[in-house]
Amino acid sequence: RIAYVNGQYVQHADAAVHIEDRGFQFADGVYEVCEVRAGMIVDLTRHLNRLDRSLSELRMAQPMSRAALTHVIREVLRRNHVKNGIFYMQVTRGAARRDHFFPAEGTPPTITITAKNTDPSVVAKKYANGIKVITLPENRWDRVDIKTVGLLPNVLAKQQARDAGAADAIYVDRNGIVMEGASSNVWIVTPQGELVTRPAEHGILRGITRTTVIDVAAKLGLKVVEREFKTEDMLNAREVFFSSATGICVPIVEIDGKTVANGHPGTISASIRDAFFDIAE
Ligand code: PDD
Repeated sequence: RIAYVNGQYVQHADAAVHIEDRGFQFADGVYEVCEVRAGMIVDLTRHLNRLDRSLSELRMAQPMSRAALTHVIREVLRRNHVKNGIFYMQVTRGAARRDHFFPAEGTPPTITITAKNTDPSVVAKKYANGIKVITLPENRWDRVDIKTVGLLPNVLAKQQARDAGAADAIYVDRNGIVMEGASSNVWIVTPQGELVTRPAEHGILRGITRTTVIDVAAKLGLKVVEREFKTEDMLNAREVFFSSATGICVPIVEIDGKTVANGHPGTISASIRDAFFDIAE
């Protein structure tokens, strides 16, 4: 396996950044995860737009031009023979002697890219029967709209889910409003057949897959509504599912030990998943 680190393609096993990298010491960095299908990078432009936004919200410089970055991404995929899989890219504020203040002007950002193959049929099988989740109180900072590598709450939430025999966790705020999954956005299909996801203006990451699911649903003639909903709305829903680059559309069949609908994945999320790659670009 080959990784890209600050201008060089290196063996994955030897890929390294400095111990005083600000990503390591302060989680002072941002990232993107993108899906690759049949050699195509799914929603690349939207991911790069969001990367730009994350960087600018944190007053970080672009590591390179978009054309150069696109070239490097494709090169990492090519060198790893990735036809179906994912790649991960991370940009940090660079390496400098530890000091909370931004490093000196001109400190080069650290950019790393890794890629791996995944077998779509294995992923499909993994989610074929849907997953169990738990709900947890929202405990993150209020800038989760920025895709930063500061994911400790998400790590703890996911592990808590696993320890409880579930696959994932959903954050719920103190008013009972559903926020998002620990690494995904949440959708419900109401008893009336509406597809509902919460607004993304604040409190959640605006998932790229979420945006594309909205496009896909429109093409399928489904009604999408962006409004807040609660845990009980999930329990009364016809379907509940996650969207994310890694799972696309993952059905949820149990929440806090309670069964969703008949306990089986629903047909609407399946139809969105089936149409997804025809519509994503
Ligand atoms: N996570 N919300 C959170 C907190 C996320 O971490 C993610 C993605 C999403 C969905 O965004 P998108 O549709 O753009 O993947 C929502 C990635 C997959 C990860 O951390 O691995």
